[in-house]
Amino acid sequence: MGGVIIFILLLTSVKSQHNNVCSRPELDDNIDTSGIQRFISPGVEVALSCKQGYTPVLGPRKIVCTVSGQWTKTKFQCIPKLCPYPDPVTNGEMYYEDTTYQSMINYTCNEGYILTGSSFSVCQANGTWSSSAPLCTPVTCGLAPIPQFGLVIYSRRVRGGTVDYGMVATYSCLPPYAVFGKATAECTASGYWTETPECEMVMCPPPENIERGYVSNNNKLEYDFKEKVRYGCRGDYVLEGSLEVVCQRDGKWSEKPSCKAPCSVGIQRGRILYKGVKTWIEDFNPNVVLHKDVVSVYCMNKVMKCGYAVTTQCMDGTLNIPECFEEPNAINYTVHSNLLPSEIEQC
Ligand SMILES: *[C@@H]1O[C@H](CO)[C@@H](O)[C@H](O)[C@H]1NC(C)=O
Ligand SMILES: *[C@@H]1O[C@H](CO)[C@@H](O)[C@H](O)[C@H]1NC(C)=O
Ligand SMILES: *[C@@H]1O[C@H](CO)[C@@H](O)[C@H](O)[C@H]1NC(C)=O
Repeated sequence: MGGVIIFILLLTSVKSQHNNVCSRPELDDNIDTSGIQRFISPGVEVALSCKQGYTPVLGPRKIVCTVSGQWTKTKFQCIPKLCPYPDPVTNGEMYYEDTTYQSMINYTCNEGYILTGSSFSVCQANGTWSSSAPLCTPVTCGLAPIPQFGLVIYSRRVRGGTVDYGMVATYSCLPPYAVFGKATAECTASGYWTETPECEMVMCPPPENIERGYVSNNNKLEYDFKEKVRYGCRGDYVLEGSLEVVCQRDGKWSEKPSCKAPCSVGIQRGRILYKGVKTWIEDFNPNVVLHKDVVSVYCMNKVMKCGYAVTTQCMDGTLNIPECFEEPNAINYTVHSNLLPSEIEQC
């Protein structure tokens, strides 16, 4: 009895094969074919569905095995599901090519930051990411070491006993101590500070005197770091350079000024223009102009027959009289003074 049934089934199947049955349809990889048999009889309808992580598009979704043993046509497709665009990571980077099912995001933290959480995330079948973005928290250092007689100022506010990567500490020392080494240190990515400077005592010897001048107080044997003294010049000498000098880190004074000599106007007869006033040289008493002062003498334009003022400057005791200046003889100066270049019409 059982044998007969088996024989009949076998016969039917062999017969169907010859009778244009449809073989399993050739479908896209992303279409779920797990429920479809190897051979399907004409007239049978198969509903298509997508594998996990894929979404159906186009259609029809059903294909039918026709009597000719061919499947009806369909444009049915399964496209990968999309995960949302990931949010950027503060103080870190993320790398991904796609946000479709099974794509991966890799996360890294910037130098000086530690990653907490997962360094990667995968787009899952239901369109969500397997893990949320990690946190990048800064590496911390302890408080900056302070040398004896030293002070430290931080670049940002400090809370508690640690500071974040990138914090800068600026050192100073209480006088007479001076900072030796780099005056700033930084909390590095390794969690340690760069080198701490030292405070060393600095003294300068008494400041030197300057020629034709004096120094305010040089009655001490030693001067502290950053201590200042002032210089001055005697008489009509003019101070050039810095009025104040300071005791420097290297135990030497900053550059001292010098005293520059006054000049006299080297003409016997004529009129000069000095500080906006026109004066006969014999009335210019005393005949002294200071270093860097400007004086004018008058020259004649012989073609135009007019006079003009030419300036010259006192430079440390030297005042050059312009070449165009011609000194008149005593007669011309006294009798014909109205014809001098300073008195006639100006060009
Ligand atoms: C993410 O990391 C994995 C493993 O290190 C690597 O194979 C993959 O190419 C990386 N992906 C991207 C987008 O950088
Ligand atoms: C998506 O799938 C993952 C893994 O199977 C699961 O943990 C998560 O709860 C699912 N999320 C939603 C919104 O269904
Ligand atoms: C004196 O004045 C006359 C006439 O203006 C002139 O010719 C002569 O060269 C002058 N002499 C001097 C030395 O300036």
